[in-house]
Amino acid sequence: MKSTVVIGVTGSIAAYKAADLTSQLVKKGKDVVVIMTASAQKLVGPQTFLTLSRNPVITDLWAMPDWQPGHIELADRAKLLAVVPCTANFIGKLANGIADDALSTYALSHTGKVVVVPAMNPKMWKHPAVQKNVKILKSRGVEFIGPVAGRVACGDNGEGRMEEVPAILARILEELK
Ligand SMILES: Cc1cc2nc3c(=O)[nH]c(=O)nc-3n(C[C@H](O)[C@H](O)[C@H](O)COP(=O)(O)O)c2cc1C
Repeated sequence: MKSTVVIGVTGSIAAYKAADLTSQLVKKGKDVVVIMTASAQKLVGPQTFLTLSRNPVITDLWAMPDWQPGHIELADRAKLLAVVPCTANFIGKLANGIADDALSTYALSHTGKVVVVPAMNPKMWKHPAVQKNVKILKSRGVEFIGPVAGRVACGDNGEGRMEEVPAILARILEELK
């Protein structure tokens, strides 16, 4: 029975909030595996997620301790992929099937549910390219949580702020039922 939750962390300033989400999911008894993009690793260290998830963190597609690429084995046991936070860039990659790093390659192997939690500047969120990609993903059954309106890290106000962790946690637990 598939039960693992894969948390994809991308290069948004909200990446640190994914650490809290990881901790909360582990406290709820979930097996959590974190995959980080290179940009995410500029904002939060993999060690944080290693400690909180109690599982190895995937940071590099080409680091292969085993004979089988890690993303294939993980896809066999993962029930849900949640990209938290999800950048404009990564929404574009998901929508267009681009697989050029560990997380995007994993996403194409994943057959379970996909949840996207966007976080970006309101101007980026409103951009027609981003909105087109969101529409494509929604048409494929990808669940979106947020973004919500409010003040974003750069000081702008508007829709683009990441949903708060308790709300994300509740939705993920609901999706896992
Ligand atoms: C400090 C900093 C914060 C950023 N925050 C965001 C963000 O919140 N949302 C976003 O879409 N991009 C943000 N970016 C831009 C992304 O990091 C950039 O588009 C990157 O290529 C995303 O790569 P990834 O999707 O592989 O993680 C930020 C960049 C910097 C330097």
